[in-house]
Amino acid sequence: MQLFLDTPDVALIKDLAATGLVDGITTNPSLIAKAGRNFLEVIGEICAVIDGPVSAEVAAMDTAGMLDEGRKLASIAPNVVVKVPLTRDGLIATREFAAEGIATNVTLCFSAAQALLAAKAGASYISPFIGRLDDVGAEGMDLIVEIRAIYDNYDFDTEILAASIRTPGHVTQAALCGADCATIPPDVFNALFKHPLTERGLDQFMADWAKTGQSIL
Ligand code: G3P
Repeated sequence: MQLFLDTPDVALIKDLAATGLVDGITTNPSLIAKAGRNFLEVIGEICAVIDGPVSAEVAAMDTAGMLDEGRKLASIAPNVVVKVPLTRDGLIATREFAAEGIATNVTLCFSAAQALLAAKAGASYISPFIGRLDDVGAEGMDLIVEIRAIYDNYDFDTEILAASIRTPGHVTQAALCGADCATIPPDVFNALFKHPLTERGLDQFMADWAKTGQSIL
């Protein structure tokens, strides 16, 4: 399973990329607004740090505008993935991007039917929003299960990118359900390393080791 970071924060990206565990990056307009930095510059900086896919989202609502913006974003670096909203215009743009060899991440997916259309349009990635479905009382993870079944039934190449991840449990469940990737906020990514029994066990081991008075080196 590929693990992406869901942030435009270059310092946080560098810190976690140093673990060798970060396969890619996703951003969205809300995260870019929160960062308060120039969008194109940030995407360029991220692509200089990360070799894997870096999703950058268009802001246009119409197909022609999405194509213009997407081509500009794709020109920043070869690993840019153009993020397109799951709308009729977005899927027409997705089909054209696929014909031009530009990778796409179709975002704001909330139903399996939408995911089926995105795959037929030639999306490289589909982003089902797990947490936002949970927020409205649905079972977000059921959507991953449904999309996995549909894509496997018809051998679609579109990768399932579990998004709107809120907890380490979401990452585990997405992996169990067969998501190809999960995009994870940095605080949740850091939480993945931790378990209280690991910390307690390590404290005990280190206390006992100190009693031996030995040194390995
Ligand atoms: O980037 C898309 C998605 O991960 C957003 O998550 O927490 O704003 O629902 P969230």
